[in-house]
Amino acid sequence: MDEKSRLTELKEILERAAHEYYVLDAPTMPDAEFDRLLLELRAIEERHPEWVTPDSPTQRVGGAVSEQFGKVRHKEALLSLDNAFNETDLREFDRRVRSAAPQARYVVELKIDGLTVALSYENASLVRGATRGDGETGEEITANVRVIRSIPLRLRESGAENMLPVDVRGEGFMPKRTFAALNKEREAEGQALFANPRNAAAGSLRQLDPAVTAERKLDFFAYQLLEADRWGVASQTEVLARLKDWGFKVNPEFRVFDDMEAVIAYCLGMEEKRHEFAYDIDGLVIKVDSFAEQRELGFTSKSPRWAIAYKFPAEQAETVLTDVEINVGRTGVLTPTAVLRDVFLAGSTVGRATLHNLDNIRAKDIRIGDHVMIHKAGDIIPEVLRSLPEKRDGTEKVFEMPETCPTCGGAVTRKENEAAHRCENADCPSRQREAVIHFVSREAMNIDGLGPAVVWQLVGEGLVRDAGDLYTLREEQLSGLERMGKKSAQNLIRAIAESKTRGLGPLLFALGIRNVGVKAGKTLAAHFGSLDRLRLATEEELQNLPDIGGIMARSITDFFRDERQTELIAKLERAGVLMSEENSAPRGTLFAGQTAVVTGTLTRWKRPEAEALIEANGGKTSSSVSKNTSFVVCGEGAGSKLDKAKSLGVPVYSEEEFAAMLADI
Ligand code: IVH
Repeated sequence: MDEKSRLTELKEILERAAHEYYVLDAPTMPDAEFDRLLLELRAIEERHPEWVTPDSPTQRVGGAVSEQFGKVRHKEALLSLDNAFNETDLREFDRRVRSAAPQARYVVELKIDGLTVALSYENASLVRGATRGDGETGEEITANVRVIRSIPLRLRESGAENMLPVDVRGEGFMPKRTFAALNKEREAEGQALFANPRNAAAGSLRQLDPAVTAERKLDFFAYQLLEADRWGVASQTEVLARLKDWGFKVNPEFRVFDDMEAVIAYCLGMEEKRHEFAYDIDGLVIKVDSFAEQRELGFTSKSPRWAIAYKFPAEQAETVLTDVEINVGRTGVLTPTAVLRDVFLAGSTVGRATLHNLDNIRAKDIRIGDHVMIHKAGDIIPEVLRSLPEKRDGTEKVFEMPETCPTCGGAVTRKENEAAHRCENADCPSRQREAVIHFVSREAMNIDGLGPAVVWQLVGEGLVRDAGDLYTLREEQLSGLERMGKKSAQNLIRAIAESKTRGLGPLLFALGIRNVGVKAGKTLAAHFGSLDRLRLATEEELQNLPDIGGIMARSITDFFRDERQTELIAKLERAGVLMSEENSAPRGTLFAGQTAVVTGTLTRWKRPEAEALIEANGGKTSSSVSKNTSFVVCGEGAGSKLDKAKSLGVPVYSEEEFAAMLADI
């Protein structure tokens, strides 16, 4: 097969696999296989830059960072919807609809709490993404919508090359769990929190750096198609079907009803079910299905007469705040938490709620003993909304932030321009404990059997001060702990030992370097190959890596200047924790069934090290190129082997491509 045909084939295979994974939630291709094919495509595109198109699966990330967003005038204004808050409002709406369209059928869709995103396709390729803005003019956020994996870069349509322009609208949103994790991280760092998933999604889409947007894991449901007649589509249900065929993610929960009483029953039922979804919904949208009937009904000055938003009542509960507890996080941030009289709210019993920081407590005038209203931010995080001063009896106490750390008695400080109070004592047991809990967590060193309760005991007993101490624990020390039998102590010792070969990426995340997440850990590991090499990197060098910004670069160099961290690293090294990529345990099947040749001089690895990496990932290596060679990794000064690979049509990857491939594992 010639290269051009292979390119077309690869694009098709990769598009289909990505669609199955991100849109249908039904993956069919192993990740490693996907990565391998993507790399093959990238290699062809590198040899033929003239073949690269913006809708290629290789073009998801890497959009340029912009100074500010351009403006986009919407083809049709984005209208908002009228709201209904109860059954009476819905019956009223029905009456108005029936007067113009007596036979109307309704489609009811979930109202996802995100923000409208407008997408434009030309010749089936995504050319523009925009925010709602004021409804007439929005902001151009094309580079950012490209990183949302469920948004197709190319529509699935035959004869797509000559396809008329397509304009689709839908809801960009952040899943509840992503929102909760993001806020948790921001709280630990003493940063301002997002009030709800909608604000978080909006903030993420308006990032000037698409790499930041990509880390935020946004998603998208399509629900509207402009100029639908053009596509022979005559109703909302047909639009949803068409959007699905084109490869968009369409929310599967929509239902069709013939009469309003059935709609009302469905709405009330959904109010109970609303917490079961992975994303926050704030109501339902009820639309007249037929476009002919929609035209009949028309618009008011700001909203369609053929649709209405049924808003769920805000879920709040009243309770009493009995105390304020202070939690000291890994970076020393003191977070005040309200202790509440138990109350049932949005699907669960709540006994604690975050108060964020002192400024928030003062702004809301929340006192100990107050009656308070609480809700769940993003449907997950209990939060005190306000106090009810009219219910005070004079016994309430104003809360003061402690001047010394409640755990260690060390000094508490607050930097100018920061909302957070911090314990400055790096030896504070709370900080140690939180740092160890982070170190052993699933995406870090993944040590089974070391839950927070065990870590608390270990730190409390003085057996563990930092993560390095875990590796010198003995079985008899563990079996002395509460609720820890001989068998679990043995298992734990084994799990700790096993974690030594987790590899550099997870280790970098586990160390808790500020701003370095799982993904950044992988990128750094793939690029530098060892902790020693990373330690020597300059801020400038770090900033030049994809996905590493200025703030992260500074955090990394600061980290290695900290003596305490140097000590921790030395301890881990003595314990035999693997600090390079070279000999890490086989991490997968990325190169399974493939034979590779490494040639020339690489900068990150010595040749045998690169070969070991290939073998650790299931591949074979050879010293000579033949027609059986699957690919060649090529460094500086490569000679005859490179020529031979070219003449045989064997794919050749640069060191960067090879590193990127490993980073994606
Ligand atoms: S239809 C003219 N359908 O809710 C019709 N909107 O004011 C336009 N929303 O900001 C909207 N889920 O972003 C529609 N299934 C859905 C929706 C939905 C969420 C948002 C939309 C808009 C607001 C309605």
